Amino acid sequence: MIRTDFLDLPPLAAVQGRVRLPGSKSISNRVLLLAALCAGRTTVHDLLDADDTRVMLDALRALGCGVRVDAGASAVIDGLGARARAVRADLFLGNAGTAMRPLTAALAVLGGDYRLHGVPRMHERPIGDLVDALCALGCRVDYESAPGYPPLRIGAHGALRLDAPIPVRGDVSSQFLTALLMALPLASAASGPDIVIEVAGELISKPYVAITLELLARFGVAVRREGWRRFVIPAGSRYQSPGEIHVEADASSASYFIAAGMLSDPTVNSEGLLIEGIGEHAIQGDVRFIDAARQMGGQIESGPNWLRVRRGPPGQGWPLKAIDLDCNAIPDAAMTLAMLALYADGPSTLRNIGSWRVKETDRLAAMAIELRKLGATVQEGADSLHIAPPVVWQPAAIRTYDDHRMAMCASLAAFNPARLPVRVLDPGCVAKTFPDYFETLFAAALPANDDDRQSGIPVICIDGPSASGKGTLAGELARRLGYHYLDSGALYRLTALAARRAGLALDDSLASRADEVARIVRLARDLQPRFEHGDAGERVLLAGEDVTAAIRHPQSGTDASRISALPDVRVALLDLQRQFARLPGLVADGRDMGTVIFPGARLKVFLTASAATRAARRQKQLAQQDISVTLNTLLAELQGRDERDRTRAAAPLKPALDALPLDNSDLTIVQSVDRVLTWWQARQPFSQS
Ligand code: DC
Repeated sequence: MIRTDFLDLPPLAAVQGRVRLPGSKSISNRVLLLAALCAGRTTVHDLLDADDTRVMLDALRALGCGVRVDAGASAVIDGLGARARAVRADLFLGNAGTAMRPLTAALAVLGGDYRLHGVPRMHERPIGDLVDALCALGCRVDYESAPGYPPLRIGAHGALRLDAPIPVRGDVSSQFLTALLMALPLASAASGPDIVIEVAGELISKPYVAITLELLARFGVAVRREGWRRFVIPAGSRYQSPGEIHVEADASSASYFIAAGMLSDPTVNSEGLLIEGIGEHAIQGDVRFIDAARQMGGQIESGPNWLRVRRGPPGQGWPLKAIDLDCNAIPDAAMTLAMLALYADGPSTLRNIGSWRVKETDRLAAMAIELRKLGATVQEGADSLHIAPPVVWQPAAIRTYDDHRMAMCASLAAFNPARLPVRVLDPGCVAKTFPDYFETLFAAALPANDDDRQSGIPVICIDGPSASGKGTLAGELARRLGYHYLDSGALYRLTALAARRAGLALDDSLASRADEVARIVRLARDLQPRFEHGDAGERVLLAGEDVTAAIRHPQSGTDASRISALPDVRVALLDLQRQFARLPGLVADGRDMGTVIFPGARLKVFLTASAATRAARRQKQLAQQDISVTLNTLLAELQGRDERDRTRAAAPLKPALDALPLDNSDLTIVQSVDRVLTWWQARQPFSQS
């Protein structure tokens, strides 16, 4: 998961291969609550693992429900059976509307002593219409601060009035109706009346209500729907576990990949993109995004559980065709249409999207502001958006407003024809519904570059002598930028370790023993190292064995320096090193990153420090591994290695002509990192924020 302040996406040309999407948020949270409300055990497969489902699972645990989540995205829920085991609980629900609304209704109907709250934005999202409906029934729900908004307090209540139709407004959020539909079967009695809900005002987002009805049926409650105005829960309704249930892949999440497939240059990849986990007959309303995408010219095939997407042929599907569309049925995926409108042959209008204003952020305002930054001309109506594509695309740093969909949408600007990079601020907010969104996109995406795709990937090189702090600097830069990291010295150290273990003597006359050199070259070529980044730092694995400490031993450094002087060993490691350059970018440290391995790198830094400073740093490093060496020995060893690295014929240590020198003898790590980030920023076309 990328958790950086910003993420710079290089321009992208195409997507290829296949992607598997996480489970639907709407289905996951409904299924979890229904499984909790029925008696017995339910196994939920392909559950979404993200912020919004995590808060729901935590809430269910707090209510006394049995919850077991297995790795591999399935959860086993032991239901409460129409009553909460804990009659008092404080529930933090983050910014998950799909948890707040239905839990409010279910707990209000059950009665007890509950407090429901969330992040500050959740306390700005309206819930008054639902609370009004619940209070009219006889439930006890109070506002803790602003009337109409969470935090809420739920209390115990007397008999509920269920014999008259229950009115609920449908024009602010369909989740109010969904919440009542899920909660009221808990109050149903065989001897009681049918429970009738009547929608006042136009019902928005009907497809989400359709998902609710479909899932209620799977849990044994058959609601009769009379148009979209009256919903009847038959007397004697009772939740029953279906035993097992599968969650479809998220249709809204699919929309970004459908869009990417439509923007994908067919001369780069003509096969299109295969999206797995969802087909066009999915129960989620947002799957109707496919119709709008086809209307814009996308070529989309579908099977029972997959979609294949390509760009349409020139003149028919490309540029995309502008649309004028009522998006009421696909509120979330309509944001993706706003991005596609940037690539259309004229201005597009998205109508009936007023609900955007009460989502994770005011999406109407946010989208208008950010699309303008990219060069589009945008008119923001009360409940509509009119978007004219950019005449000239602008490099932009896109704000995401703690809204996962804003971040995922922003990535689609990277397909711009002007081949400008795009900066996405706070990319980690995708965690709400799709924690690995960017990783999934990068695994499928190809950078835009005519002659050599690889060179479309931004690379920062940090070269310099031993113990100059390259590793620390490069690793920290990679972390701050969300880029991959290559410690090329580790590859030489690993090769040397493999050679030692094969019984080879790594002495001064090694170069003259041709068959031993040939063996080392083979070892280098077959090296299949794994670098794992965990909380405890980086682990280096060779054939499954953790060799992190072994390759950090001073002997390994000297050995590495020896074998790295062999030209054939350097050639053998060339491809392996270049393979580390993957989207979204790479920070590589070593001796010849800027001169030989990545000569076209965007930024090259030659890092130095005085020999005394470096010896002292190395001594400290070794002391942490309980290795004690005198300063003089280290100084001599460093100078010997520097001399060998500098004077060898193959790729001698020297700054690339275009490298920026950085002497960090008197700088802290933070200062060095900031210096390099400032240089990097100066090479980006967009301003800081
Ligand atoms: O950076 P380091 O100390 O882990 O590197 C170990 C040795 O590997 C170093 O003495 C020279 C060699 N090396 C190299 O020749 N080229 C690189 N790109 C990285 C390291």
